[in-house]
Amino acid sequence: MPESTDIHKRIVELRGQIDHHNHRYHVLDDPVISDSEYDALMRELQALEKLRPELVTSDSPTQRVGAEPLDAFESVEHRVPMLSLANAFSNEELTAWRRRVSDRLDDLDFEMVCELKYDGLAVALTYQDGALVRGATRGDGYRGEDVTQNLRTIRSIPLSVPKDAPRQFEVRGEVYMTKSGFEKLNQERLEAGEPLYINPRNTAAGAVRQLDPRITAQRPLDIFVYGLGYAQGPMPDTHWETLEYFKSWGFKVNSRNTLVRRTEEVEDYHKRWEEERENLDYAADGIVVKVNQLRLQEQLGFVGREPRWAVAYKFPAEEATTKLLKIDINVGRTGSLNPFAILEPVVVGGATVKMASLHNEDDIHRRDIRIGDTVIVRRAGEVIPQVLGPVVSLRTGREVVFQMPDECPVCGTRVVRPEGEAMHRCPNVACPAQIYELLKHFVARGAMDVEGMGESLSEALLKAGLVKDVADIYYLTREQLLTLERMADKSASNILAAIETSKGRPLARVLFALGIFHVGGETAELLARQFVDIDALAAATEEELQAIPTIGPKIAQSVVAFFGEESNRKVIEKLRQAGVNLKSDARPASGPLPWAGKQFVVTGKLDTLSRNQAESAIKDLGGAVGSSVSKKTDYLVAGADAGSKLGKAQALGTPILDEQAFTRMLEEAGSKPP
Ligand code: IVH
Repeated sequence: MPESTDIHKRIVELRGQIDHHNHRYHVLDDPVISDSEYDALMRELQALEKLRPELVTSDSPTQRVGAEPLDAFESVEHRVPMLSLANAFSNEELTAWRRRVSDRLDDLDFEMVCELKYDGLAVALTYQDGALVRGATRGDGYRGEDVTQNLRTIRSIPLSVPKDAPRQFEVRGEVYMTKSGFEKLNQERLEAGEPLYINPRNTAAGAVRQLDPRITAQRPLDIFVYGLGYAQGPMPDTHWETLEYFKSWGFKVNSRNTLVRRTEEVEDYHKRWEEERENLDYAADGIVVKVNQLRLQEQLGFVGREPRWAVAYKFPAEEATTKLLKIDINVGRTGSLNPFAILEPVVVGGATVKMASLHNEDDIHRRDIRIGDTVIVRRAGEVIPQVLGPVVSLRTGREVVFQMPDECPVCGTRVVRPEGEAMHRCPNVACPAQIYELLKHFVARGAMDVEGMGESLSEALLKAGLVKDVADIYYLTREQLLTLERMADKSASNILAAIETSKGRPLARVLFALGIFHVGGETAELLARQFVDIDALAAATEEELQAIPTIGPKIAQSVVAFFGEESNRKVIEKLRQAGVNLKSDARPASGPLPWAGKQFVVTGKLDTLSRNQAESAIKDLGGAVGSSVSKKTDYLVAGADAGSKLGKAQALGTPILDEQAFTRMLEEAGSKPP
């Protein structure tokens, strides 16, 4: 057995090493050893501490999760109250804030620190003689809850700080759950059949206020520190340097903070992060602007519960609460019964929302959404508004659990729910809802693009019995059209001409227009490139289809089932008879396409080829072309004067091709020049 002083020495050494690697990994996001090397150090420390239990200290890295579940949290008083921030919602309000500040100061050229405003929960961490002794929630600002044992489980919170830190001090920060961690957690819950969490913020708050620290330890929580509560010991003169001190003591400070002087710089910071917030792995609901000089902060003081020296310049809210009034059903063109929420109108994501998607019955139950609930609605970017879940605490008891109807709300046929599917379906292919939705889709832009044939004409044609399936539009006569209300000679001619023009659309458009389940625009293009005509596609087996890169079993099955259906084959014959193009104009591909599965986005001005030519060349090689840069984008092709997409690709680390690199890649892949 080794000498006991050697064991002590080794324990101290191991703790130092583990703390160091923990800091590199969780705070700096820059690990220098592998997980297994880290685990080995941890196991060695655990073994030695087991041998010498009297040497275990509370700041040992083995002691992050140790405590037993509590019955309740103790209430603790904040030595310095944790106050709130005044809000600004526009550049004008920001300017007004700045003017109020300069009016009170002699120094007109003061510095400001811009930070992100994290949407999590505020905590205060107290350190005494180098060790974390208390972690508390904000509570009402004056009293919070003692959640020390839960906060200790967050790896980016140091359990101990270096000797040069003050003897006693309190740092404040925001605990949050990463978006990626939240998605993963909900995915696991989905697979386990457990109820889903609403959003990262509420889930983080729940995890911190959880009586069993072992559960908290399993949640993907993190922290950014943003301010000092108090300190007994020397501290710097500015907020910026205070943050630098925090960093040097091992705390996680956001590297996106900046020090500025001019209001325009604050506006730019706000604009930049409003645009890019979706790319952050944490929720930010605005920026916080703080006067940098602490002497000036003191001079400015507070009004009520808000400091004059800081302001929260908010982003437009992406989430809002409102009442769910009713759940209605829409029957899709494939017969799926899609429930959607009718809401009390609410402004969210910059628009008034009255309806929101609800996915399917299982999802409604997993989120425990009931009719009459106050719900949280989310609308971010261009995405359709979603109901995330109920605010259970606001229930009255009069809420009603939703049940899917037994019959199709449009044609009354008994609905079915195919094995393994989440959707209920109306099995009646002649259901007016299906034909109506399909016809609307068939004539829409991106499909057969019959100009002038909108929703109302589609509906009128179906009502008049002039159209029973989508091919019927090619057999319409002038006389028939003129029997419709409000149809003049001129518009009838226009419609007939537009129908005629649509006969020449490429095969990909026809395939997309037919509304084959799981065949979107991209897949339709891929299929049209692989087969010489629709008959060749109709004859393909599931195996042949699946041999095409990016075509999986779901699409293959659906295509085979579509062409196996007698009524669908009839429609195709009618299209053929009418003279609709059913042949592919793309060269038949031989062998796998070199860029299959790769996603491109093209932006800016190219010199040697047009945007369209560039996109066709990518598609000819099997690649897909997206309209916006996301994590899924493999390459951004950036020509001259590329704008925000370039910035986004840089932020995401997406490979960027200039025109020269792109054309070289095209040549290497065997692309034919346009
Ligand atoms: S400083 C005197 N900085 O916003 C208040 N707060 O409305 C000083 N918050 O409860 C607060 N990010 O939880 C500050 N970078 C940031 C912040 C931030 C989020 C939260 C904080 C507080 C609330 C104030």
